[in-house]
Amino acid sequence: MTDKIDFTGRVAIVTGAGGGLGRDYALQLAARGAKVVVNDLGGTRDGRGGDDAAANRVVEEIRARGGEAVPSYDNVATVSGGRSIVDTALEAYGRIDVLINNAGILRDKTFVKIEESDWDAVMAVHLRGAYCVTRPAFEVMKKNRYGRIVMTSSMAGTLGNFGQANYSAAKLGVFGLANALKLEGRRDNVLVNVVVPGAATRMTEELLPPEVLARMGVEWVTPAVLCLCSEACTDTGLCINAFAGYYGRTALMTGPGELFSEVPDPERLLASWEKIKSLETAKTFEDANALFADLLGRAILRT
Ligand code: NAI
Repeated sequence: MTDKIDFTGRVAIVTGAGGGLGRDYALQLAARGAKVVVNDLGGTRDGRGGDDAAANRVVEEIRARGGEAVPSYDNVATVSGGRSIVDTALEAYGRIDVLINNAGILRDKTFVKIEESDWDAVMAVHLRGAYCVTRPAFEVMKKNRYGRIVMTSSMAGTLGNFGQANYSAAKLGVFGLANALKLEGRRDNVLVNVVVPGAATRMTEELLPPEVLARMGVEWVTPAVLCLCSEACTDTGLCINAFAGYYGRTALMTGPGELFSEVPDPERLLASWEKIKSLETAKTFEDANALFADLLGRAILRT
């Protein structure tokens, strides 16, 4: 058995923590000693309106259980909102150790029915929101030479989901952001990982059948998120799925393909199509340079 994960002395920001998954992350972090900034705009599932009550309720719950928390009602989708969330942590507790980018909305429609406003609203909360909050937090964490950041993706992004083009694009976008930040943060022990959750919340209650939802309590997701934002986690750039008792990794892999020393005709490529699209012996690469180095090595070996 490994040591108990303890967040005593750590300060955590959880965005969208007024309900659903974020609420459980905040409660469990606080139960393990973290001081928590409970951020939530308190709007509707499709991102309209706002209500301080959502964040206040969770702060009260944490305090009632003897934990420490402060509310933030800021909008993650604006630079000033992101700054204010980070300032709330610094003013209340003087540091930031953990950031969980969790706030989210849905505007599900088939692609041709997605209005510009639906596209922009979803991109704003998920992708721009991850930028707006992470940017100031990342700076503080790098200075302190410690940080654990969790981005929230979705199977809609990693695999695709009918009727969620805006959401799928935004959710894979945060994976891309994590891919770059894992490289920029590592030297300063700022680790950036991705969670792909699945849980019964107001976001999914109409999307999944009740018998599926019954096996998907938020409590199944939280342990994975706590691992990723603990000091014990030394990985960065991982994408971990967590739902209904399943915990496993999703990764973008690159197949061996075929190497050409002269520009091939498209017909020649088609002739090799099975080999080009094959993922047999596919590998993950640390970054873009690692793939180039691998290809260069193979090219040299061939000559
Ligand atoms: P939820 O709707 O219960 O929670 C999202 C929270 O984010 C809400 O409390 C909402 O008020 C808050 N929020 C929305 N826009 C905000 C903004 N601009 N600024 C601050 N707070 C804002 O939904 P749930 O399911 O707990 O979702 C949490 C995250 O997990 C989301 O990013 C969602 O996309 C993601 N996710 C959830 C899945 C699920 O099965 N529930 C599956 C895959 C991803």
